[in-house]
Amino acid sequence: MRKIYVIGIGAGHPDHLTLQAAKAIGRTDVFFVLDKGEAKESMIELRRRMMKAYGRPSRRIAEGRDPDRDRTPTDYQGTVADWRHRRSEVTEALISEHLLDDETGGFLVWGDPSLYDSTTAILEEILARGQTLFEYEVIPAVSSVSTLAAKHRIPLNRVGRPFQVTTGRRLADEGWPAGVDDVIVMLDAQQAFTAHPDAHIYWGAYLGTEDELLASGPVSEVADEILRIRAEAREKHGWIMDTYLLRR
Ligand SMILES: C[S@@+](CC[C@H](N)C(=O)[O-])C[C@H]1O[C@@H](n2cnc3c(N)ncnc32)[C@H](O)[C@@H]1O
Repeated sequence: MRKIYVIGIGAGHPDHLTLQAAKAIGRTDVFFVLDKGEAKESMIELRRRMMKAYGRPSRRIAEGRDPDRDRTPTDYQGTVADWRHRRSEVTEALISEHLLDDETGGFLVWGDPSLYDSTTAILEEILARGQTLFEYEVIPAVSSVSTLAAKHRIPLNRVGRPFQVTTGRRLADEGWPAGVDDVIVMLDAQQAFTAHPDAHIYWGAYLGTEDELLASGPVSEVADEILRIRAEAREKHGWIMDTYLLRR
């Protein structure tokens, strides 16, 4: 039976890689790479370094082209489902072409595979089609959210209370979620925190990397500074990944 590892590699720091992940990289014959539009050079470089440090000398890389995706869709759920379906077809072709019997394949997933990542859903979709068979295992990792909390030296929840993880789009469209006072926001292209001046923000960009940026304080006091730092960093690097906790 062919085997596939879905390996979380952490959110940017080379030392985020767990021993379990390093061992799985060392057991992988073929790494599958879908060249994402958002996979910036430094993200690709980190993966290269990990493969070089822990991979087998005989490892192979099978690359596929990530299907294009409408970044500003009117039907968000439908567009994402369609994109995921097209990705699953590209991924299935890669697996059936490059992963031989009894070999082990691997996907190096940014952060932790359980957070806003479609790799496991794509593998399930492939298995459901019943044409390409394999077993797979997920290796957990340090996420951008756990890195954010560590860098600010805060817990995500307050005593006995829940928190919610959501996207910038949802926070902007639907407002503060009901039933929680602590909201973690990812994938925010619109700086949705500015609509919540009464909250306290713990913000971080390029977490774990050499370019890491941190800021915190009442949104009413630090929002302008975060917007300025964010815009400058985006200009400098050409891209940005940021995550924040809003607490009220
Ligand atoms: C597609 S999601 C993937 C999340 C990833 N699986 C994780 O565990 O962090 C991408 C989002 O994660 C967050 N993110 C990932 N890496 C980050 C980093 N190094 N610093 C800040 N935010 C990051 C950003 O909110 C970004 O928009």
